[in-house]
Amino acid sequence: ESTENRQLKQLHDDATKLYQHILMNTEMGQKALDYLHNRGMTDEDITTFQIGFAPEKSVLQDFFNEKKLDYQILRQSGLFIENQAGNLRERFINRVMFPIRNQNGQVVAFSGRLLEKNKDLPKYLNSPETPIFNKRDILFNYDLAKKEIRTEGNVILFEGFMDVIAAYRSGVKNGVASMGTSLTNEQIYLLERSTSQLNICYDGDDPGQNATNRALDLLTNQTKMKVGVLVIPNGMDPDEFVTKNGKEAFLELAHSARETTISFKMNFLKRDRNLKNESEQIDYIDQVLRVLATIKTPFEQDIYVNQLADEFKIDKTILRQQLVDLVANQP
Ligand code: UTP
Ligand code: MN
Ligand code: MN
Ligand code: MN
Ligand code: MN
Repeated sequence: ESTENRQLKQLHDDATKLYQHILMNTEMGQKALDYLHNRGMTDEDITTFQIGFAPEKSVLQDFFNEKKLDYQILRQSGLFIENQAGNLRERFINRVMFPIRNQNGQVVAFSGRLLEKNKDLPKYLNSPETPIFNKRDILFNYDLAKKEIRTEGNVILFEGFMDVIAAYRSGVKNGVASMGTSLTNEQIYLLERSTSQLNICYDGDDPGQNATNRALDLLTNQTKMKVGVLVIPNGMDPDEFVTKNGKEAFLELAHSARETTISFKMNFLKRDRNLKNESEQIDYIDQVLRVLATIKTPFEQDIYVNQLADEFKIDKTILRQQLVDLVANQP
């Protein structure tokens, strides 16, 4: 490993400790600490995930100036923004700081969350790419989750940091998150080395469910892992679900409420459709058959054909014939 990379990691380690100290032990961090507690986060979570706070005051600069650190290292760290005159100022101001660790548990970047809504600023601000932070390669919490993924036999993919942490608090410790983007091939490869079952647990709201549907389409071509879905009811985030319904309820959901890709799609296609309306019902059945036509295993296909036939009181042989026609006409 290069000297430069070692210095960059040291810098992130120092920053993590400083931000955490500010959150836990200072007046400057009090509001942020209250905010996290109000959201159901425990001091144990804060310690486990090394969460901190970047205040208004330029604490990093003061700290690193004292240590007489190399300007180039500071510049490359992504923790500062350089202005035209070549002066550095802190990138993260007034944000709860979530350290992002690599596979070896070393902090290589941060994501900072605002305490309050601000229409001019992003809710979460992430470190830019640096010599030690390659977004494509990193999954939030993979280092801690790795062992659990192996013992549980599956990995749960969440949208956000708060969801991973809430799940962890519930005893569901095999969760990871990609940082606001769809999974990259590098991230998929990382997961495939530990498990053959990937469960998507995105937000229950419309954007989350649409993203799940998109992810399923992409993933089926990208991975050999079996892909399942955990649906959070009532449009909630996993994090909200834990806060409202408790740890046991989430543990239960994670262990028993898994849907297959096909049953997710069958339910997903029901959203925004009034199935009492005849033409919408016909359209629904047509769309579902197109999904069922993609199933390679005959008995699996048969299970869903039977479900569909029972639900809408249609003759199974007619549905099967329609499937044969669909498959024959596939490009
Ligand atoms: P969400 O908007 O669902 O946020 O975005 P969240 O995780 O529920 O956060 P809370 O509960 O409001 O604190 C999901 C993920 O998308 C990325 C973050 O990684 C976030 O966790 N994101 C979101 C960004 O990178 N920037 C943003 O401005 C918003
Ligand atoms: Mn407290
Ligand atoms: Mn969301
Ligand atoms: Mn949330
Ligand atoms: Mn969310």
